[in-house]
Amino acid sequence: MSRLFSSLKIRNVEFKNRIMVSPMCQYSSIEGMPTDWHIVHLGSRAVGGAGLVMQEATAVSPEGRITPDDAGIWNEEQVEAYKKITGFIKSQNSVPGIQIAHAGRKASTYSPWKGNGSVPIKDGGWQTLGPSPVSFDENYTVPKEINKDDIKEVIEQFKAAAMRSVEAGYSVIELHMAHGYLVHEFLSPISNKREDEYGGNLENRCRLAVEIADTVRKAIPNGTPLFARLSSTDWVDNGWDIEQTVYLSKKLKEIGVDLIDSSSGGNIANAKIPASPGYQVQFAERIKKDASILTGAVGLITSPEQAEQIVVSGQADIVILGRAFLRNPYWALDAAKKLNSDIEWSKQYLRAKL
Ligand SMILES: Cc1cc2nc3c(=O)[nH]c(=O)nc-3n(C[C@H](O)[C@H](O)[C@H](O)COP(=O)(O)O)c2cc1C
Repeated sequence: MSRLFSSLKIRNVEFKNRIMVSPMCQYSSIEGMPTDWHIVHLGSRAVGGAGLVMQEATAVSPEGRITPDDAGIWNEEQVEAYKKITGFIKSQNSVPGIQIAHAGRKASTYSPWKGNGSVPIKDGGWQTLGPSPVSFDENYTVPKEINKDDIKEVIEQFKAAAMRSVEAGYSVIELHMAHGYLVHEFLSPISNKREDEYGGNLENRCRLAVEIADTVRKAIPNGTPLFARLSSTDWVDNGWDIEQTVYLSKKLKEIGVDLIDSSSGGNIANAKIPASPGYQVQFAERIKKDASILTGAVGLITSPEQAEQIVVSGQADIVILGRAFLRNPYWALDAAKKLNSDIEWSKQYLRAKL
């Protein structure tokens, strides 16, 4: 019996297996609205057998978008549009999740196939926000130092986005606190130079993350799982690291966050990241052990055997795959076959099940 294909229940939500599609920006939205691309992209991975399909970083406000082409959930029109996607994913016995995000100083950039670095305001870009007026690198503009009123507004935006996500039919909410976006910028002493209660010592740097998680947890139904994606390390000396990640994970657990999606990097432009198969699994394992919280392992997990081993060995509770799912939306159906698990297929495709 494959452990990867065993079910998992978190709060009121049952996942048919431990495979999650990693959130991946598609740069295919118009004014934050999803397009047909999103229905096909997310829908086909639900047909492909993933237990949880996590929608890309979806901005809590227009200024929170990484690029002008990013998805957003700041208005009711968007909520209505997402209902078609969540309805379809559920029709395939999969669970729709959404990653809600604010890009901070890394907002207002070009989509990968349109250019590099910041989009100037005259070309449709906008003033970015950050904990301190320190740019990500020379291709990015200097953010405006966020003040206390802005912080309150951002927390309210996360709350409203989470409530809208529930209304739109998402069964899991993931807070994007990784990859050098706004919350991670507060966590890391390299991007956070503040001298108020949101900067300086570890407790202060974690304050925004804790306040967002606490506010969102209280705003969404008790039965709805809440995940947080954290960058476990900045991969540089004197930056954010795994010890601090364990500290924050404990705090998030106390608040009612259910699972830490354990990623890394993204806040330091020239960091040397030793990417190799499963290179971030160690973080999921450490956080699970030391913070006693469910974790997801992500990063260069590509083969069914590797994924199975991660959950069998107890290094993580779920595996999260990104590019492997871009190459093959039916990765989970193929994995079940390789691991001798007899799983349900969509009836339209049954004649292809061997
Ligand atoms: C096209 C693309 C878009 C991505 N967008 C996001 C995103 O919206 N949010 C996020 O947390 N990570 C994003 N990532 C990172 C992935 O979720 C994942 O963590 C990373 O690709 C490593 O996993 P993999 O080796 O399985 O691809 C993106 C990655 C890719 C390839």
